[in-house]
Formats: sequence, C-alpha cells, structure tokens
Amino acid sequence: MYPFKPGSFAPRNGWYVAAFVEEIGETLLSRWILNQPVVLYRKADGTAVAVNGRCPHRHYPLGASKRVGDAIQCGYHGITFGADGKCTFVPSQLTIPGVYTIPAYPLVERGLWAWIWMGDPDKADETLLPTLEEIGYGLPGQIPEAFYYRHVNGRYQLLNDNLLDLTHLGYLHGTSIGTQADAETPETRDLDERRLSSRRHMNDTSMPPSYRALFDYQGPVDRVSGMDFYFPGFHAGIAEFRIAASQPSGGDVLSANRVWHAVTPATRASANYFFAMSSHSRKALASARENLVSVIDEDVFATEEIEKIISTLDDVPPELMLKSDQTAVMGRRALQAMMDRELAAQD
Ligand code: FES
Ligand SMILES: [Fe+2]
Repeated sequence: MYPFKPGSFAPRNGWYVAAFVEEIGETLLSRWILNQPVVLYRKADGTAVAVNGRCPHRHYPLGASKRVGDAIQCGYHGITFGADGKCTFVPSQLTIPGVYTIPAYPLVERGLWAWIWMGDPDKADETLLPTLEEIGYGLPGQIPEAFYYRHVNGRYQLLNDNLLDLTHLGYLHGTSIGTQADAETPETRDLDERRLSSRRHMNDTSMPPSYRALFDYQGPVDRVSGMDFYFPGFHAGIAEFRIAASQPSGGDVLSANRVWHAVTPATRASANYFFAMSSHSRKALASARENLVSVIDEDVFATEEIEKIISTLDDVPPELMLKSDQTAVMGRRALQAMMDRELAAQD
C-alpha cells in the first residue's frame, strides 16, 4: 500500500517502540501494533511483558479483561493466559486444549522506551536495537524525558516521511521551530544497513521564532539540524544552536537538544507516535513540553489530512518528487527492502 508496493504494509522483523517504559504498570495497557491488538503490563516482579490482545476463544479484547496475578483472565468466559501466553485455566473443563495459547512478544526496556518484536521470534536480536550512545541518550548534563504519546489516524509511513523531510520545518512549523533556511539549505546523508542519517548546517542564520523567545541573544546563529532514522521506526534528532562564528562570543552554545520520535504502525491506516527529548535543565524541558504540543499537533494534522485524501481517492497519482525528497526516498527504499526480504523468506 502507498507509498510501498501493493501488499507491503510494514516490516515485521524489527524492533518498534510499543510504549514508554513509564506507561507500563500493573494495569493492562491496550495498543494496536502492526495490525494486531497487543496488551502490555508489568508482572509482580517488575518485568514488562507483551502478549497478543485477542482471546482465541471468541476474540474478546484481553486488554479489557482482568489481571489475576501475573496472568490475564478473559473478561468474557474466564479463560486465563499466563504472561508467556500459555493458557492456565479453562473454567468449563479440566483439560486445557493444546491450541489454547496466545502469542507473547519479546519486549526490551531500553532508555525511555519499551521495544517490541512482533516478527519471527528467532530473529529478535537485541543488537539490532539502536544503542543509547548512538542516539545521544544520557549525554553528560542532559536530562531525558518522555513527552507525549499520540494515536494518529494516518498510516505510519506518513510520519516517517515527515521526519525524513525537514524542509517542512520552515513552513508547517514556520511560526515556531523552523525558518526558510530549513528548506533552502541542502543536507548531507549517510546510509548504512541499520540507519539513514541526514544533517543540515545553517550558518549565520536567524533563529526560529520559538527559540527567539527563549534567549536574550537575538543575533545570527549557526545551527545544526538532523535526524538519524533507525529502521524501521525510530528517529533520533539533533537541534543545536550556537552564537554565529561571525559574532563576538561566536561558537557559544545556546541550546543543544536531542529529540526522539518513535513511529510504530498501529493499524494499516493509523500509527502510534511517541515523542521524547532531552535538554540541559528541568526548566528548559518544562517550557519545551508546553511549546512543542502545537508543533506535534501540526505534524499530526498534516498526517491525518493526507491520510484522508489518499485513502479516499480512487487512484493516488504518483508524487511529483524533488531533490529534497531524496532522504525520504532512501528511507522508503530501506523499509521496502526489509519487507521484500521477509516476503522472499516466506516463499
Ligand atoms: S472470548 Fe475469551 S473466554 Fe471466551
Ligand atoms: Fe514536524
């Protein structure tokens, strides 16, 4: 499906963010991931687990069911499943049919995020996860914080496309975090088998509107803006502002934030979107959390409106591509290649 080949929806063999670690507790958390209902919770010993959220008896949602110790008791007829997915109790009979299991998914907590593997469990290799070091998590003097979870009524690739084309900062976010320089400055790219990286260096340029409000200094700045896309759904961004080298005290850092966007397919036409960032102080984080709500709203608006158009048109005409689309095209190709490999492995 758009923008992938017909029949291609999303790679399955990959780590996706299922939840922020802080969202997972005693209470059952329901979330659609890769077109499957999933339930997340924390066992009594503190381990976070993820199981499929559909009771195999009559398809009742296990996320709307009840915790019994570390197990889930289906809210419809009481069949009970352990955290490993095995059925432990059938109220109407003593024997438990062998078919009564639900999938339990590998789940790894790392940094602010709980990462799920919904594909072939034998391929769930933790070394494929981005390391905290490479995403700039836990840099000295930086405090990481989970900001928002949003359920977005648009296919996940629209959010990946958004994050892989930061020329939109100057327009969709032109009144807040972007300027025209975001669109006019060419970017450099670097691709390997795990990630696609892009950077823009904007020198002697004006500060975007929302940053102007934060600093006494209002002169020209040297900016670095970029994104590292770890396939299939994690974007580690960098936003650095220094006093422009042309100025007295040039080179002094005004702000150096890391931002993290996790994009996880929910259903075929909706996505889970997790935004987090780090900054040098709690005060800076509190003001960013307040200011960025409207920025994320703009991205969600764009995504949901585009979804309405492409899902309603009888035929989606081919996009008219520009040079600046190269990063997004490379990202799409990388994901398509993952899906093609999965398809080939099935044959
Ligand atoms: S639907 Fe779950 S026990 Fe019947
Ligand atoms: Fe955006």
